[in-house]
Amino acid sequence: MTETEAKREIERLREKVEVYNYHYYVLSESLISDLEFDRLLSSLQELETEFPQFLTPESPTQRVGGAITKEFESVVHRYPMLSLANSYSADDISEFDERVRKAVGQEVSYCCELKFDGVAIGLRYEKGILTKAVTRGDGVQGDDVTANVKTIRSIPLRLRGHDFPDDFEIRGEIFMPRSVFDAINAEREEMGEPRLANPRNAASGTLKQQDSKAVAERKLDCYLYLLLGENLGFSYHHQSLEAAAKWGFKVSPHSRVAKSLDEVEQFIQYWDTKRYELDVETDGVVIKVDEIRLQNNLGFTAKTPRWAVAYKFKAQEAMTRLLSVSYQVGRTGAITPVANLEPVWLAGTSVKRASLHNADIIAELGLHEGDVVTVEKGGDIIPKITGVVAEKRNLFSNPVTFIHSCPECNAPLQRREGEAQHFCPNEKGCPPQQKARIEHFTARKAMNIDSLGPETISML
Ligand code: IVH
Repeated sequence: MTETEAKREIERLREKVEVYNYHYYVLSESLISDLEFDRLLSSLQELETEFPQFLTPESPTQRVGGAITKEFESVVHRYPMLSLANSYSADDISEFDERVRKAVGQEVSYCCELKFDGVAIGLRYEKGILTKAVTRGDGVQGDDVTANVKTIRSIPLRLRGHDFPDDFEIRGEIFMPRSVFDAINAEREEMGEPRLANPRNAASGTLKQQDSKAVAERKLDCYLYLLLGENLGFSYHHQSLEAAAKWGFKVSPHSRVAKSLDEVEQFIQYWDTKRYELDVETDGVVIKVDEIRLQNNLGFTAKTPRWAVAYKFKAQEAMTRLLSVSYQVGRTGAITPVANLEPVWLAGTSVKRASLHNADIIAELGLHEGDVVTVEKGGDIIPKITGVVAEKRNLFSNPVTFIHSCPECNAPLQRREGEAQHFCPNEKGCPPQQKARIEHFTARKAMNIDSLGPETISML
């Protein structure tokens, strides 16, 4: 193959890979099999190795990671990365609407968007190529995480079409899809490793990894929601989002233009419960004045734009009854109390159990047998008991007292000085500890011993 032929072939393969990538990761539709895709990518990789003079940083082969960042460089934002004023009630939203209408002296339509709970990111594109990805930091300057962000498949390294501005920034939220978060935690449990606390922490922890290969494996995703630059030529915010989607960005399909406060409230109400069906965590709704001329008239306070506000969803809470408390013994002998509850519907799932963590939490709650309790599902997926409805307590019920001996082997429990957790010290003879240790040893990521799963181990 001559140089000219190789150059042409590399470009042809890149365009193909980009199209398949875009359909798969942005539009969630698969046009070819994984095998065919891998073949295309390998051909591209081989040609780029043979003709390194044509390798470019935006080639789709660069998404697998490999670059190591020792220390993330600090970058000053071209446009400060502000936050939003929060509101918590219909009254707050109505006051915001009144303020806005009074300031601009006319009726206003709003773009309603979901508020994604992840890590804010600013992406700069020059001549259609991703050149910088910077975290929010303190709002004035953030960390350059470009190498890591390039591994996120739904973020275009090169834009589609030709009608994008020469130099602009687009802001959005990097997140870990719930499905990915659950899969990682299932694997961690199998390995006896501690669970990741919630998808937001998981995303932000991942983004700060020094090895971009590790980031590539974590399957992060990103929704974009704000375009910044000089003379972008849009009259309405929603038009800029539509254009961004055309250039290849992943833009939420759920945003809606509301012509009245009533429509804004309908949007909020709808998503207050529907949000649990999404594969991304959301913690509210963002309401933005749609007309950009009006946004400019309204301007900013020191910290937040006057043209937008965030409505925060209330954590979903439900009331139910405590049926009993059981105690689980972990691999290391740690004892975790678990509340067994009368099943109650909460945030899209039926809740039957809640973690009580340790003896201190039980004491703080003042939990009694048979208590009516409030359970809440925050970002942490595992529901927690947030309170006790003391008025509903049976006069003669006893306080829940922590056990003194191991529920499995009867050994007296120990609690080390200054630690909240109780332990069963019978390392060698306590059955769940023995089983968990063998499971840990034989697990896929450890000794990988086939046909020695939990059931066989129990039987033995
Ligand atoms: S617009 C000037 N839209 O929420 C601020 N932000 O406290 C423009 N967020 O920093 C932000 N979803 O990290 C906007 N649809 C959305 C959002 C969103 C999540 C985050 C973002 C921002 C924070 C506001």
